[in-house]
Amino acid sequence: MNAVADSSQSLLESLYQCSDQELNRRIQAARDQLGEKLVILCHHYQREEVYQFADLTGDSLKLSRLASQRTRAETIVFCGVHFMAEVADILSGPNQVTLLPDLAAGCSMADMADLLQVTAAWKELERVIPVESQVTPVTYVNSTAELKAFCGAHQGIVCTSSNATNILKWAFSQRPKVFFFPDQHLGRNSAKRMGIPLDEIVLYQPDLPLGGLTEDAIRKARVILWNGYCSVHQMFQPAHVELFRKRVPGIRIVVHPECSMEVCDLADELGSTEKIQQVVRSAPPGSRFAIGTELNLVNRLKHELPDREIHFLCPTICMCSTMFRIDTQHLCWTLEQLVQGRLVNRISVPQREAQLAKLALERMLSVS
Ligand code: 13P
Ligand code: SF4
Repeated sequence: MNAVADSSQSLLESLYQCSDQELNRRIQAARDQLGEKLVILCHHYQREEVYQFADLTGDSLKLSRLASQRTRAETIVFCGVHFMAEVADILSGPNQVTLLPDLAAGCSMADMADLLQVTAAWKELERVIPVESQVTPVTYVNSTAELKAFCGAHQGIVCTSSNATNILKWAFSQRPKVFFFPDQHLGRNSAKRMGIPLDEIVLYQPDLPLGGLTEDAIRKARVILWNGYCSVHQMFQPAHVELFRKRVPGIRIVVHPECSMEVCDLADELGSTEKIQQVVRSAPPGSRFAIGTELNLVNRLKHELPDREIHFLCPTICMCSTMFRIDTQHLCWTLEQLVQGRLVNRISVPQREAQLAKLALERMLSVS
């Protein structure tokens, strides 16, 4: 580590000695100094202390659009996870930079599929079916830029939790089959809602030969799902839904489509983080909800809407520990370094990869 990096690191460490008021004051001062050169984008799962500093908030689709539209800001500080900052870097202009306050803010689901594995799976499937003419690759936005580039290179597309069904329709208009990664649950829930029978939806397990499937199953399948999942959303269980239905009359169950099919089938509403908020906000006072998504979002709704009865669907705490890595200390450090003209934790997708990933992202933006 050189001397500048060393002192920047000790500055970050020293911020853990500051009071909350002091941190807030310093963040605000840095923001004021940076003015319109800066935009802070925040995902809905961010902790409140950070979320209060957002210029713009959203689900993954909304944040992707915002990143491509906020052309006046030279710097995007992304309070979210790594793949979201990569999307911002890919979709923002050539004179903009994207910073992620803590590089350790990843997404465990995105880490469940890498390019090597997906390319190996594609080649394995090729032994059974002509993939290039028969299969559209679809990657959930919760994936690395290299997988988005893979989709760009193979006439595929990106989807988010708010447009997955529309994107699947587009994918089927191109070719008869879909290879969907990394989230099996979003893939299954969306395909099922399009009327695709479960025996035409198969699970590819990358650790097993031919994904653990028979050649016959692959030929018959319309949707081949990657065996990935979100460790937060897999905590919600059908028993939790049943318990609330018994205990709270008139309760409405609203869940994120990263929950299992068994949970989603029992729910009243399914939607992205943005949609979940809309559903609860637009309900009349006195409405009762149990919500199956990350705890910070649910707590924010409870706080914002005290005239509604809002429950967290799971009896234990389900938080996205990687989103939680973005704290006010890292935000303050990133902004103060920026004021000094130093870019810390820059997210920069290599050019060729970015070009291909952009193709798949732009297909998504034009379809949704
Ligand atoms: P949204 O696009 O619905 O905000 O979801 C992102 C995510 O990571 C959910 O776990
Ligand atoms: Fe990834 Fe799950 Fe966190 Fe969303 S909640 S960012 S899918 S680990």
